[in-house]
Amino acid sequence: MTDNPTSLPQNTPRRDYSRAAAWALLCSWTEGESLRKHALGVEACVAAYGLAEADRLGLTGPARDALLNLYATTALLHDFDYERHPSLDEHPFVGVSELERQGWPAELRTAILGHATYSGVPRVTHLDKVLFACDELSGFLTACALVKPTRSIHEVEPRNVRKKLKDKAFARGVNREDVYLGAQELGVDLEEHIAFCLAAMQLRAADLGLTGTPPA
Ligand SMILES: [Fe+2]
Repeated sequence: MTDNPTSLPQNTPRRDYSRAAAWALLCSWTEGESLRKHALGVEACVAAYGLAEADRLGLTGPARDALLNLYATTALLHDFDYERHPSLDEHPFVGVSELERQGWPAELRTAILGHATYSGVPRVTHLDKVLFACDELSGFLTACALVKPTRSIHEVEPRNVRKKLKDKAFARGVNREDVYLGAQELGVDLEEHIAFCLAAMQLRAADLGLTGTPPA
């Protein structure tokens, strides 16, 4: 069971930093379905990179669980303040202050600050780089799915995504430079990065509302 994050008195540290707690906090600050879905989309990609990283490090048991939890909660919370505080002056700074007050881990908070290029906080860790690399791309992959007649992410193909990235009129809100820079910082080939994130989102298609609707 999760306590109500908004009812915590000042300076009371949280005890629960689970995925469920992150989801509850996100939902308590975010009414919009699309922003919640965005968080889940980014989580799908970031969590997949977290799994790969845990494997690479040979982590097992509690250490593995801790890494996976950190990646998932960071992704879920990266925009949790955006609906209430969308301005560049406030997002993600207001949210990060709240996370600090609640005692969420420093690695999570630093990655969230770093995903905003204007924060001046450098992206140093694997998590910092993964979050930034998946944020805009995840939104773009969702846009690619939603223009399919079936609105299914299973219909999206990596080479089609590459083509659409070059089409400036498509999904104008997605910053292409951030997509390219994210892959570069993470040290992954853009094509592979797209395919990796696409596969991760396809596995979570039901949660993301992207399983597709049969044509009328
Ligand atoms: Fe985001």
